[in-house]
Amino acid sequence: MGLTDGLMRILGKQSRKPSGWLGKMIFGHLATWGHRPLTNWAMSFMDVQPADHVLDIGCGGGMAIKLIAKIAVEGFVAGVDCSEEMVQQALKRNAAAVRAGRVEIRHGNVAVLPYDDESFDKVVAVETFYFWPDPVANLQEVRRVMRSPEPTEGKPGGLVALAMEGSKETPNWQKLAAQAARMGFPLYSGAEVEKMLTAAGFSRAWFEAAPDKGWGWLCALGVK
Ligand SMILES: C[S@@+](CC[C@H](N)C(=O)[O-])C[C@H]1O[C@@H](n2cnc3c(N)ncnc32)[C@H](O)[C@@H]1O
Repeated sequence: MGLTDGLMRILGKQSRKPSGWLGKMIFGHLATWGHRPLTNWAMSFMDVQPADHVLDIGCGGGMAIKLIAKIAVEGFVAGVDCSEEMVQQALKRNAAAVRAGRVEIRHGNVAVLPYDDESFDKVVAVETFYFWPDPVANLQEVRRVMRSPEPTEGKPGGLVALAMEGSKETPNWQKLAAQAARMGFPLYSGAEVEKMLTAAGFSRAWFEAAPDKGWGWLCALGVK
Protein backbone atom coordinates (compact mmCIF):
# COMPACT_ATOMS: atom_id res chain seq x y z
CA MET A 1 0.00 0.00 0.00
CA GLY A 2 1.57 3.36 -1.06
CA LEU A 3 1.53 6.53 1.01
CA THR A 4 -1.27 7.98 -1.10
CA ASP A 5 -3.37 4.87 -0.59
CA GLY A 6 -2.76 5.11 3.16
CA LEU A 7 -3.79 8.78 3.26
CA MET A 8 -6.87 8.09 1.14
CA ARG A 9 -7.95 5.35 3.56
CA ILE A 10 -7.42 7.59 6.59
CA LEU A 11 -9.46 10.36 4.94
CA GLY A 12 -12.17 7.88 3.95
CA LYS A 13 -12.33 6.53 7.51
CA GLN A 14 -12.48 10.03 8.95
CA SER A 15 -15.27 11.10 6.54
CA ARG A 16 -17.29 8.04 7.53
CA LYS A 17 -16.91 8.64 11.27
CA PRO A 18 -14.75 11.61 12.29
CA SER A 19 -12.71 11.04 15.44
CA GLY A 20 -9.82 12.53 17.39
CA TRP A 21 -8.13 15.86 16.63
CA LEU A 22 -7.98 15.16 12.87
CA GLY A 23 -11.72 14.44 12.63
CA LYS A 24 -12.56 17.49 14.73
CA MET A 25 -10.32 19.74 12.64
CA ILE A 26 -11.54 18.51 9.24
CA PHE A 27 -15.22 17.79 9.85
CA GLY A 28 -15.91 19.85 12.96
CA HIS A 29 -14.32 23.03 11.55
CA LEU A 30 -13.03 23.02 7.95
CA ALA A 31 -16.03 21.16 6.49
CA THR A 32 -18.43 23.61 8.09
CA TRP A 33 -17.02 26.14 5.57
CA GLY A 34 -16.16 23.74 2.76
CA HIS A 35 -19.62 22.12 2.67
CA ARG A 36 -21.54 25.37 3.03
CA PRO A 37 -22.08 26.07 -0.72
CA LEU A 38 -23.37 22.50 -1.24
CA THR A 39 -25.60 22.85 1.83
CA ASN A 40 -27.05 26.14 0.57
CA TRP A 41 -27.68 24.52 -2.80
CA ALA A 42 -29.52 21.58 -1.16
CA MET A 43 -31.54 24.03 0.95
CA SER A 44 -32.59 25.88 -2.21
CA PHE A 45 -34.69 22.78 -3.08
CA MET A 46 -36.13 22.37 0.42
CA ASP A 47 -38.13 25.56 0.86
CA VAL A 48 -37.77 25.41 4.67
CA GLN A 49 -40.65 27.23 6.36
CA PRO A 50 -40.61 29.02 9.75
CA ALA A 51 -42.75 26.33 11.43
CA ASP A 52 -41.00 23.33 9.87
CA HIS A 53 -39.58 20.45 11.87
CA VAL A 54 -36.32 19.49 10.15
CA LEU A 55 -33.86 16.61 10.72
CA ASP A 56 -30.21 16.70 9.59
CA ILE A 57 -28.75 13.18 9.36
CA GLY A 58 -24.94 12.91 9.60
CA CYS A 59 -24.98 16.49 10.86
CA GLY A 60 -21.20 16.63 11.46
CA GLY A 61 -20.17 19.92 13.08
CA GLY A 62 -23.72 21.30 12.95
CA MET A 63 -23.34 24.01 10.28
CA ALA A 64 -26.49 23.02 8.34
CA ILE A 65 -28.44 22.89 11.59
CA LYS A 66 -27.43 26.48 12.31
CA LEU A 67 -28.45 27.66 8.83
CA ILE A 68 -31.80 25.84 9.01
CA ALA A 69 -32.55 27.01 12.57
CA LYS A 70 -32.24 30.61 11.34
CA ILE A 71 -35.23 29.94 9.05
CA ALA A 72 -37.28 27.45 11.10
CA VAL A 73 -37.63 30.00 13.91
CA GLU A 74 -41.02 28.72 15.08
CA GLY A 75 -40.23 25.09 14.36
CA PHE A 76 -37.66 22.55 15.54
CA VAL A 77 -34.34 21.35 14.13
CA ALA A 78 -32.76 18.04 15.08
CA GLY A 79 -29.40 16.55 14.19
CA VAL A 80 -28.18 12.96 14.40
CA ASP A 81 -24.61 11.76 13.93
CA CYS A 82 -22.88 8.46 14.64
CA SER A 83 -19.70 10.26 15.80
CA GLU A 84 -19.84 11.35 19.44
CA GLU A 85 -17.16 13.97 18.71
CA MET A 86 -19.29 15.52 15.94
CA VAL A 87 -22.31 15.59 18.26
CA GLN A 88 -20.25 17.57 20.78
CA GLN A 89 -19.05 20.01 18.06
CA ALA A 90 -22.59 20.47 16.74
CA LEU A 91 -23.91 21.07 20.27
CA LYS A 92 -21.25 23.76 20.82
CA ARG A 93 -21.95 25.43 17.49
CA ASN A 94 -25.70 25.58 18.24
CA ALA A 95 -25.51 26.12 22.01
CA ALA A 96 -27.93 29.08 22.19
CA ALA A 97 -30.63 27.39 20.09
CA VAL A 98 -30.19 24.15 22.09
CA ARG A 99 -30.67 26.08 25.32
CA ALA A 100 -33.78 27.69 23.83
CA GLY A 101 -35.17 24.20 23.04
CA ARG A 102 -35.32 24.90 19.28
CA VAL A 103 -32.45 22.56 18.39
CA GLU A 104 -31.63 19.06 19.58
CA ILE A 105 -28.59 16.99 18.58
CA ARG A 106 -28.33 13.29 19.34
CA HIS A 107 -25.79 10.56 18.95
CA GLY A 108 -27.38 7.99 16.63
CA ASN A 109 -27.36 6.08 13.40
CA VAL A 110 -29.49 6.46 10.29
CA ALA A 111 -30.24 2.73 10.57
CA VAL A 112 -32.32 3.32 13.74
CA LEU A 113 -33.30 6.97 14.06
CA PRO A 114 -34.10 8.05 17.63
CA TYR A 115 -37.40 9.68 16.63
CA ASP A 116 -41.07 8.74 16.46
CA ASP A 117 -42.92 8.11 13.21
CA GLU A 118 -43.97 11.25 11.30
CA SER A 119 -41.80 13.65 13.36
CA PHE A 120 -40.37 15.78 10.51
CA ASP A 121 -41.53 17.92 7.58
CA LYS A 122 -38.09 17.94 5.97
CA VAL A 123 -34.94 15.80 6.22
CA VAL A 124 -31.52 16.76 4.88
CA ALA A 125 -28.32 14.72 4.63
CA VAL A 126 -25.20 16.47 3.31
CA GLU A 127 -22.10 14.52 2.29
CA THR A 128 -23.13 11.41 4.20
CA PHE A 129 -25.30 9.21 1.97
CA TYR A 130 -22.20 7.41 0.61
CA PHE A 131 -21.56 6.01 4.10
CA TRP A 132 -25.02 4.65 4.86
CA PRO A 133 -24.71 0.91 5.47
CA ASP A 134 -27.88 -0.26 3.70
CA PRO A 135 -29.17 2.65 1.58
CA VAL A 136 -32.68 1.39 0.72
CA ALA A 137 -33.39 0.14 4.27
CA ASN A 138 -31.94 3.38 5.66
CA LEU A 139 -34.16 5.44 3.35
CA GLN A 140 -37.16 3.43 4.61
CA GLU A 141 -36.14 4.45 8.13
CA VAL A 142 -35.86 8.10 7.01
CA ARG A 143 -39.32 7.85 5.40
CA ARG A 144 -40.73 6.48 8.68
CA VAL A 145 -39.86 9.66 10.60
CA MET A 146 -41.27 11.92 7.85
CA ARG A 147 -44.75 13.43 7.81
CA SER A 148 -47.33 11.63 5.65
CA PRO A 149 -49.36 13.58 3.08
CA GLU A 150 -52.65 15.09 4.25
CA PRO A 151 -54.78 15.05 1.08
CA THR A 152 -57.83 16.67 2.73
CA GLU A 153 -55.70 19.71 3.63
CA GLY A 154 -53.87 19.59 0.28
CA LYS A 155 -50.54 19.03 2.07
CA PRO A 156 -47.92 16.84 0.39
CA GLY A 157 -45.79 14.42 2.42
CA GLY A 158 -42.42 15.32 3.91
CA LEU A 159 -39.37 16.00 1.73
CA VAL A 160 -35.88 14.49 1.95
CA ALA A 161 -32.81 16.02 0.28
CA LEU A 162 -29.61 13.96 -0.09
CA ALA A 163 -26.74 16.21 -1.17
CA MET A 164 -23.42 14.92 -2.48
CA GLU A 165 -20.32 16.86 -3.47
CA GLY A 166 -19.16 14.11 -5.83
CA SER A 167 -21.23 11.86 -8.05
CA LYS A 168 -21.40 10.07 -11.37
CA GLU A 169 -23.05 13.26 -12.72
CA THR A 170 -19.68 14.64 -13.79
CA PRO A 171 -17.57 14.00 -16.88
CA ASN A 172 -14.79 11.49 -16.16
CA TRP A 173 -16.67 10.15 -13.15
CA GLN A 174 -14.94 6.79 -13.56
CA LYS A 175 -11.65 8.29 -12.28
CA LEU A 176 -13.47 9.84 -9.32
CA ALA A 177 -15.30 6.56 -8.57
CA ALA A 178 -11.94 4.76 -8.47
CA GLN A 179 -10.63 7.33 -5.95
CA ALA A 180 -13.78 7.02 -3.84
CA ALA A 181 -13.42 3.23 -3.88
CA ARG A 182 -9.85 3.62 -2.57
CA MET A 183 -11.32 5.70 0.27
CA GLY A 184 -13.87 2.97 0.91
CA PHE A 185 -17.16 4.37 -0.34
CA PRO A 186 -19.30 4.21 -3.50
CA LEU A 187 -20.14 7.02 -5.90
CA TYR A 188 -23.74 7.30 -7.11
CA SER A 189 -25.53 8.67 -10.14
CA GLY A 190 -28.75 10.64 -9.74
CA ALA A 191 -30.72 7.84 -11.42
CA GLU A 192 -29.30 5.28 -8.96
CA VAL A 193 -30.35 7.30 -5.90
CA GLU A 194 -33.71 8.09 -7.48
CA LYS A 195 -34.28 4.34 -7.91
CA MET A 196 -33.35 3.71 -4.25
CA LEU A 197 -35.80 6.39 -3.08
CA THR A 198 -38.56 4.76 -5.11
CA ALA A 199 -37.63 1.30 -3.77
CA ALA A 200 -37.83 2.74 -0.23
CA GLY A 201 -41.44 3.79 -0.86
CA PHE A 202 -41.19 7.50 -1.64
CA SER A 203 -44.14 8.58 -3.79
CA ARG A 204 -42.03 10.97 -5.87
CA ALA A 205 -38.29 10.92 -6.46
CA TRP A 206 -36.05 13.02 -8.68
CA PHE A 207 -32.62 14.62 -8.70
CA GLU A 208 -30.86 17.86 -9.44
CA ALA A 209 -27.29 17.88 -10.74
CA ALA A 210 -24.59 20.52 -11.22
CA PRO A 211 -21.88 18.64 -13.17
CA ASP A 212 -19.59 21.69 -13.31
CA LYS A 213 -19.57 22.22 -9.52
CA GLY A 214 -17.17 20.38 -7.19
CA TRP A 215 -16.91 16.79 -8.38
CA GLY A 216 -20.41 16.81 -9.85
CA TRP A 217 -22.86 18.06 -7.23
CA LEU A 218 -25.90 15.86 -6.83
CA CYS A 219 -29.02 16.43 -4.77
CA ALA A 220 -31.51 13.56 -4.79
CA LEU A 221 -34.97 14.43 -3.52
CA GLY A 222 -37.90 12.34 -2.36
CA VAL A 223 -41.44 13.11 -1.21
CA LYS A 224 -43.14 10.70 1.20
C1 LIG B 1 -18.32 13.94 5.53
S1 LIG B 1 -19.14 14.18 7.07
C2 LIG B 1 -20.36 15.44 6.64
C3 LIG B 1 -20.85 16.19 7.84
C4 LIG B 1 -21.82 17.33 7.58
N1 LIG B 1 -23.08 16.85 7.05
C5 LIG B 1 -21.22 18.36 6.66
O1 LIG B 1 -21.70 18.50 5.53
O2 LIG B 1 -20.24 19.01 7.06
C6 LIG B 1 -20.16 12.72 7.18
C7 LIG B 1 -20.88 12.62 8.49
O3 LIG B 1 -21.84 11.56 8.43
C8 LIG B 1 -21.79 10.85 9.66
N2 LIG B 1 -22.30 9.49 9.42
C9 LIG B 1 -21.74 8.55 8.63
N3 LIG B 1 -22.48 7.43 8.64
C10 LIG B 1 -23.54 7.68 9.44
C11 LIG B 1 -24.65 6.91 9.85
N4 LIG B 1 -24.80 5.64 9.43
N5 LIG B 1 -25.57 7.46 10.67
C12 LIG B 1 -25.40 8.74 11.11
N6 LIG B 1 -24.36 9.52 10.78
C13 LIG B 1 -23.44 9.00 9.93
C14 LIG B 1 -20.33 10.91 10.08
O4 LIG B 1 -20.11 10.67 11.44
C15 LIG B 1 -19.94 12.32 9.65
O5 LIG B 1 -20.10 13.26 10.68
